Amino acid sequence: MSGGCPLHRGQLYDAMHKLPDDYRSFVIDICRGSKRVLEMGVGTGRLMVPLIEAGHDVVGIDADSQMLECAREKLARAGGGADARLICADLTRLEEPIPADIAIFSSNTLSLIGSATGRSRIFGWLARSLQPDARIVVILNNTARLVRESPNRETVHTAMLDGMEVTVCEKRTLDPSRMMWVGTNRFVIDDLDGSKTEYCENVAHAAILPVELELIGSLHGLTIDEVFGDYDGGPFTRESRKLIAVLSRKEENAR
Ligand SMILES: C[S@@+](CC[C@H](N)C(=O)[O-])C[C@H]1O[C@@H](n2cnc3c(N)ncnc32)[C@H](O)[C@@H]1O
Repeated sequence: MSGGCPLHRGQLYDAMHKLPDDYRSFVIDICRGSKRVLEMGVGTGRLMVPLIEAGHDVVGIDADSQMLECAREKLARAGGGADARLICADLTRLEEPIPADIAIFSSNTLSLIGSATGRSRIFGWLARSLQPDARIVVILNNTARLVRESPNRETVHTAMLDGMEVTVCEKRTLDPSRMMWVGTNRFVIDDLDGSKTEYCENVAHAAILPVELELIGSLHGLTIDEVFGDYDGGPFTRESRKLIAVLSRKEENAR
């Protein structure tokens, strides 16, 4: 998300993105048996808190201080501060290892890393940092299905925030030369006093296909063990809504 937005990005994210029950359950289930969880792009902590409540030690990393502010408040309310750590950092610039048994990129976070070089650098860091036999879970939309449905998409969300009605119109077009979804988020904020504020930001998300995950994984000694197509754990097909890949660093692959 770019700077300059008149709204608090964390509050806006929570107002616009309710956490579906099947999504929460999928994340809890996949992390079961892995004590130390690393959430890459933890955002407002909407998954971190249920993970702590399920008994995990969670470290959450994010570069956006407004998103982290909301995460900190949620953790304090849930009384989860002792087991949790929030780190404000750019995922592409991590150096010190953070040992974990599972790392998770939820909600398309990996697609927000704009360059393939940046995505590869993150996987290189994870491969060095994680415990042997640790897993990496990547949750993305299935770009191939979205393109088949339409390479031009428009969605509108409305939410109440601090007594204001906020409407966001998201427009996305696939730029095949860069393999990026590019577009705008146009906000219309209707205040209680009848005033209206408009704001527009440019956005770009990488269109990530399974083959890229396989390629980046193999560069860093990681293999894809499972690929699911939705939160019910069904197999990935070209019609799937989601692309959920589980990678691991097998000792024999480690460099
Ligand atoms: C779509 S949100 C997902 C938040 C959370 N995982 C969830 O599911 O609610 C993506 C998050 O990734 C963070 N992010 C994007 N690029 C990043 C980067 N290069 N370094 C650190 N965080 C990043 C954003 O600030 C944002 O909070």
